[in-house]
Amino acid sequence: MVKTMEWQHDALEILDQTKLPVEISFIKCTTYLRIAEAIKRLEVRGAPAIGAAAGFAMVLGWQQLMREGRPNLQAFAAVRDELTAARPTAVNLAWAANKLYAKADELAGQGKMPDEIAAQMEMLAIKIYDDDIACNKKMGEYGAELLPPHTRILTHCNAGALATCGWGTALGVIRAAHAQGKIDMVYADETRPLLQGARLTVWELMQDNIPVTVITDNMAAWTMKQKGINAVVTGADRIALNGDTANKIGTYGVALAAKHHGIPFYIAAPVSTFDFNIATGADIPIEERSADEVKRLQGVVTAPQDALAFNPAFDVTPAELITGIITEYGVIKPPYLENIKKLQLKTKEENFNG
Ligand code: MRU
Repeated sequence: MVKTMEWQHDALEILDQTKLPVEISFIKCTTYLRIAEAIKRLEVRGAPAIGAAAGFAMVLGWQQLMREGRPNLQAFAAVRDELTAARPTAVNLAWAANKLYAKADELAGQGKMPDEIAAQMEMLAIKIYDDDIACNKKMGEYGAELLPPHTRILTHCNAGALATCGWGTALGVIRAAHAQGKIDMVYADETRPLLQGARLTVWELMQDNIPVTVITDNMAAWTMKQKGINAVVTGADRIALNGDTANKIGTYGVALAAKHHGIPFYIAAPVSTFDFNIATGADIPIEERSADEVKRLQGVVTAPQDALAFNPAFDVTPAELITGIITEYGVIKPPYLENIKKLQLKTKEENFNG
């Protein structure tokens, strides 16, 4: 399995996902700003992966402030804010950046020297990376239990090893179920405008010899009917307290089609993707990207140059369309508000107990 990113103590090497599947190439990011740029350009993408990258970017940011002779919390807050502004929807980005900032704040409050703070932050960023892989493995186990023998499953976008630190959320569930011999076929929506499904999910599953068939997004409902799809699983970028879930644009339509066909629709996401501070999906900020992404396909013009275009990168699937949310703590079922609050309490207690 190709690594999404590799930490090198004073640099983060990332796999350039904009080039896949044509080319496997890496970008060495030696500054936090270059990582912010990589996040904006989707060279590194997927909620957990941009969270982990932001953690390492915070370490590089602190190292830079030390070289500039100003390792203070005010300057470090500016680094954090610049990083979190790179992409607004996936809450993992702010979650990781805030975690690193809080660590620096805590250590500075204890009178620790800047190089000691740097060392401890580096350990924390590595832990975020390692924990993500462990969470994905757990989600995989819980999720695979939900799937029947002869699963014909549909997924949208890429919520695989490429979107995380390894293994994947939705694709982690598929990987685990495949290891149990349950997967007959994975149908991967190509995921316009940037084709994360066709370019990344299909590539990633083929690498692991998991049976996969690519379809265009407008084929999803018909494929459910014609190919006997019996489960849908996707990832998430932000989950509100009531279970409303933001994920790649097109997920909402897939959930509606699944509901119509009586197919269970699952979300797989770690706790770092929950935003316990927001009540409903109406409060989730939705990133809008350049109109060019809609009017061109891989550089080829597909619409009149002056055409108006709307390009929301994510949509929000209402909680009532979601059969269950697979987390590293188990599967959350409705009533979501009550059960997500229980999850919040559990994670709070764990953090408190260290
Ligand atoms: O714009 P992207 O490619 O970053 O969007 C990614 C998705 O929407 C994924 O489904 C989500 O981040 C979950 S990744 C485990």
